[in-house]
Amino acid sequence: MKIVVIGGTGLIGSKTVAILRRRGNEVVAASPKSGVNTITGEGLKEAMAGSEVVIDLANSPSFEDRAVLEFFENSGRNLLPAEAAAGVRHHVALSIVAIDRTDNGYFRAKVAQEKLIEGSGIPYTIVRATQFLEFFGGIADSSTDGDIVRLPPVLFQPIAADDVAAFVSEVAIAPPRNGIVEIAGPERAPFNEIVARYLKAVGDRREVVRDPEARYWGGRIEERSLVPLGEARRGRIGLDEWLRRSRAA
Ligand SMILES: NC(=O)c1ccc[n+]([C@@H]2O[C@H](COP(=O)([O-])OP(=O)(O)OC[C@H]3O[C@@H](n4cnc5c(N)ncnc54)[C@H](OP(=O)(O)O)[C@@H]3O)[C@@H](O)[C@H]2O)c1
Repeated sequence: MKIVVIGGTGLIGSKTVAILRRRGNEVVAASPKSGVNTITGEGLKEAMAGSEVVIDLANSPSFEDRAVLEFFENSGRNLLPAEAAAGVRHHVALSIVAIDRTDNGYFRAKVAQEKLIEGSGIPYTIVRATQFLEFFGGIADSSTDGDIVRLPPVLFQPIAADDVAAFVSEVAIAPPRNGIVEIAGPERAPFNEIVARYLKAVGDRREVVRDPEARYWGGRIEERSLVPLGEARRGRIGLDEWLRRSRAA
C-alpha cells in the first residue's frame, strides 16, 4: 500500500515511516526538505498520485499564536483538496488530547486543523495524543523563571514518541473511523512531580515549584485539563523506561 507521511522527517514522522516501511508498505516521507510543502502546495500532486493513505504529522515552524493557526489552516486547505483529487481513502492526523476544552493558542490551531479534516469529505481518523515525553525540555523551558520552573499540580499522562508512532501506524492501516481515538502514556501523575523527576534524572538543577496558578502555554488549566476523560489506549513506555532507552541510544 502507498502511504504518504506529511512531516515524515519529524520526531513522530520519521518513526512512523520506519515502522510502516518495515511492514512492507511503500512510504513517502514528505516534507519541505524532500520537495513537498503543504503551505506552498509544492510537490503535493505528485506525492499524492496513487496513494491510499495520507498521515499528516507536520508541525508549524513557529508556535506563536497567529503563526501556528495560519500554518494548520493553510496546510489543511492545500493538503485535503489534493488528497480528494487523488482519491485518497484515509486521512490520518495527529492531534492533542483536550484541545477543545483547554484554551491556548496552539490548541486553538489544532481545533481548526481537526475541523477542516471533519469537513473535507475524506474518510479520516484523528489520533489525539497527550504530551510527548520528548517535549519535557520545552515544557520546562517555557515555565522557567531564573532557576525556578513553576508548574501546576494538574494531572499529566505523557506518552513516548515510540508509542505514538506505533499507534499512528496501526490506525493508518486499519479502516477509517471517521472519529477520534485518544492515546496516552502508562503513568498518570501531577504535572510538577513528573517534570521534577525528569529534570533530576537528566541532571538539570532547576527547581520545580508547585504553583496552582501557573499557566500552560499562557492558558489556565485545571486538574483534568490535559488528560483523557474517557477511554484511551495506553502506551507501554513510562518515564523511567524512556530515560533508560534515551541513555542507551
Ligand atoms: N509535542 C507534543 O507533545 C504533541 C502532542 C500531541 C500531538 N502533537 C502533534 O504531533 C505532530 C507532530 O509533531 P512532531 O513533534 O513530530 O513534529 P516535528 O518533529 O517538529 O516535525 C515537524 C515536521 O513537519 C514538517 N513540516 C514543516 N513545515 C511543513 C510544510 N510546510 N509542509 C510539509 N511538512 C512540513 C517538517 O519538515 P522538515 O523536516 O522538512 O522541516 C517536519 O517533518 C504535530 O501535528 C503536533 O501538533 C504534539
